[in-house]
Amino acid sequence: MAIQTIATQPIAGQKPGTSGLRKKTAVFSQPYYLENFVQSVFDTLGDCTGKTLVLGGDGRYHNRKAIQTILKMAAAHGYASVLVGQGGILSTPAASCVIRKRGAAGGLILSASHNPGGADGDFGIKYNIAAGGPAPESVTDAIYSRTESITQYRISDAQDINIDTIGVAQIEGMRVEVFDPVADYAELMSRLFDFDAIRKLFAGGFTMRFDGMSAVSGPYAHAILEGMLGAPKGTVINGTPLEDFGGHHPDPNPVNAAQLIALMAQPDAPDFGAASDGDGDRNMIVGRKFDVTPSDSLAVLAANATVAPGYRAGLKGIARSMPTSRAADKVAQALGIPCHETPTGWKYFGTLLDADMATLCGEESYGTGSSHVREKDGVWAVLFWLNLLAATGKSVEDIVTAHWARFGRHYYSRHDYEGIDAAAANLLMNDLRVKLPALKGQNLNGHTVELADDFSYTDPVDGSTAAKQGIRIVMADGSRIVLRLSGTGTEGATLRVYFELYEPDPAQQRRPVQQALASLIAAADSVAAISLQTGRSSPSVIT
Ligand code: G6P
Ligand code: ZN
Repeated sequence: MAIQTIATQPIAGQKPGTSGLRKKTAVFSQPYYLENFVQSVFDTLGDCTGKTLVLGGDGRYHNRKAIQTILKMAAAHGYASVLVGQGGILSTPAASCVIRKRGAAGGLILSASHNPGGADGDFGIKYNIAAGGPAPESVTDAIYSRTESITQYRISDAQDINIDTIGVAQIEGMRVEVFDPVADYAELMSRLFDFDAIRKLFAGGFTMRFDGMSAVSGPYAHAILEGMLGAPKGTVINGTPLEDFGGHHPDPNPVNAAQLIALMAQPDAPDFGAASDGDGDRNMIVGRKFDVTPSDSLAVLAANATVAPGYRAGLKGIARSMPTSRAADKVAQALGIPCHETPTGWKYFGTLLDADMATLCGEESYGTGSSHVREKDGVWAVLFWLNLLAATGKSVEDIVTAHWARFGRHYYSRHDYEGIDAAAANLLMNDLRVKLPALKGQNLNGHTVELADDFSYTDPVDGSTAAKQGIRIVMADGSRIVLRLSGTGTEGATLRVYFELYEPDPAQQRRPVQQALASLIAAADSVAAISLQTGRSSPSVIT
């Protein structure tokens, strides 16, 4: 075994986006591509000697090969040990849990989250810091600038090691520990939630389907739901991680989890349905013939948090990303706690959680989580709902409609225009920015504009700032239109348009969502010329 120094040169475009570096698998598997990025991470971190690194991924195509490369590079940089999930498997929230629990200096997570996998799909990598969360922008910016000047990388010429059997191996002077990716995480869940009550619920005949979407959360759901909680076998569907996710788009929303939605609409539907994404950090909650929006899910969990043992002391605060509906704000107001509004990207919650200024966080993009780790957490959200269902004995629909009756309903929908021309997308946003100052006071299709701006954020903990985080058009009647470009796509640009309308009257809370939002949808098209500028007459995905 020897450590080699290999000459390389910068590869353009290695800029991490909303959540790490994501590219087509074919791009990632080019010679030097992964090596350049990982070397840039290690260079940015400085001296790695004696430190511990956590390593794993969502099992997608290229995961195993990338893990072997990273192990050999870590050994060449003096890491004392690397903890690798067995089979290379580690969900994003479990990685966060293990980094924190084992006192690691950080972790490398291999995933492109909810983007499709396989040789024709996407691959990705991101670095998480010692607190367990995604590296802040100052770090990812430094990594990016390092990729622009890199000249060499260091790697051991050791043989590949066996990552499929739990145990310890050695590369150069570095210890490699292959560990059970579920155990630490499951133990944490058992402390946060009332497992006895949930066990009783299942024992009493309560039925559920958890759709693992052939991605990483399957092993966690099998072990926790069907193992520890005694749910019948078959509760977890698509529960084995596959390299191409079985051809599925592992994004748990009503469009991509159509199998589960159809199942939940049957006359003999289970009591409860849930799904998680590629790397296990997203969640979708479905009742019988009743979808719960992520924004509502956050608000409902916040309003009922004390049913769970881990949250019995109450919440310090709530945080939501700017485009997420303001349903959580109503709950925070009632609880007398702050509700923080952050830019899109889970990393913005990190400082608030570390400072104990927020306990629960959520995003409209099917992400919910808490201070228990520093990532959003799919299985955690499902267990929280199960705890709530067990504690109240009510159905999902009853819980949500009672919530609306008390706090008002925030009708909500997101329209995505995927894969549009990047130049056209930027032009649309820039044209709209120019119009913003004149919008205030204007009547848009019956809604009077109260505020129109491009969201900028100053982190209340560390003072860091983020500008141009999305255009907000807020109406005097409490409704809102938000437009921003996605930071996670890998092809062209994706325009996201978010609609929200507040309805306090319970008699008006059961209208079809798109119909309730129709006046705002038309207003957005007229103010931003969406059809004209994108060349699309309708969105490609509506959630
Ligand atoms: C990832 C991030 C989230 C973000 C989502 C959508 O899941 O972890 O924080 O909300 O992507 O981001 P995008 O920039 O595509 O809207
Ligand atoms: Zn994800």
